[in-house]
Amino acid sequence: MKILGIETSCDETAVSLIDFKGSKIKILCNLVSSQIEIHQEYGGIVPEVAARKHTETIMPLLDKALGKTKPDLIAVTQGPGLITSLQVGLQTAKTLAYSWQIPLLPVNHLEAHLWSWLLNQEKMVKYQLPAIGLIVSGGHTELILIKGIGKYKLVGQTRDDAAGEAFDKVAKLMDLGYPGGPIISHLSQKGDSDKIKFPRPMIDSSDLDFSFSGLKTAVKYFLKEIVPTGNLSAQMTKDIAASFQKAAIEVLVNKTFKAAEKFKVKAIFLGGGVSANDQLIKALREKNQDFNLDLYLPDKKYTGDNGAMIALVGYLKNKEAKKKNWQKLTADPNLNF
Ligand code: KG4
Ligand code: ZN
Repeated sequence: MKILGIETSCDETAVSLIDFKGSKIKILCNLVSSQIEIHQEYGGIVPEVAARKHTETIMPLLDKALGKTKPDLIAVTQGPGLITSLQVGLQTAKTLAYSWQIPLLPVNHLEAHLWSWLLNQEKMVKYQLPAIGLIVSGGHTELILIKGIGKYKLVGQTRDDAAGEAFDKVAKLMDLGYPGGPIISHLSQKGDSDKIKFPRPMIDSSDLDFSFSGLKTAVKYFLKEIVPTGNLSAQMTKDIAASFQKAAIEVLVNKTFKAAEKFKVKAIFLGGGVSANDQLIKALREKNQDFNLDLYLPDKKYTGDNGAMIALVGYLKNKEAKKKNWQKLTADPNLNF
């Protein structure tokens, strides 16, 4: 079964074609056209600009991905995301499904991040359930109890900024560029992560929620004090990056294992842009030495937004595709579990 995955929820136009044959996952093509350079000059994503760029990019990208291939099913991101960006992918998918007369399946972008680790395997592998899923992206920080495909419960989430958003905002405070996550993690390699003791918001709270805006504000006040003294050296910038990153990761890892303990799960799924962070992976592995759970971590090429993870969920849920009345499908910017 050949599945076309289309993803346009934010600032990446992405399409992928996957052939699912028996238990084999053959990724025929996985194209991501990033708009980062365009949005960099604004220091963040401008929704109107993003949508316009999607409309320009999507057809040439599909043409490149498909050639003369007609897929058996189309999977498309329905939400969450920027409404105008989502519309481009969804309307394109509906048009293709109509002209080819093939089924269309709407996919939850967050669910796709959850399962993206499966793409590393090149075949459907057995996995342990129940599991706790940690989704860390630019817009979301969520803990999900996973009991099966489509069987999810949101058990924790951020009350303000998402983890990726905090990386982006801290980078912006220091004029380091956009997106901040990769820049901060790169600078951190040469920084002293114990130099500044930033707060670990909500680390000891009895619930499974997160809060990152206080951490960002702590960095802001620290900078306010240090910049006028002329002490914001290149080394100090690296130390701030490393100290901030350590604080954010400590909270993420702590709460993930707290959830794992609470729900007595057998595994942890990780997904979303921030899962490209090597220190996060290292910290999860270290903490897991006390728990010995199965860790399912996405390959770096599938951590950011991509069409392959959308096609994958299309496959996992393909039986639902026939039932859906896709003609009436609309994008849902606030779609959640
Ligand atoms: O999942 P994603 O590509 O898009 C959304 O669905 O939001 O996540 C993007 C986020 C951005 O905030 C970016 O700064 C962050 O992921 N990110 C990272 C790293 N690479 C990307 N954060 C920390 N460390 C990284 N290496
Ligand atoms: Zn995403």
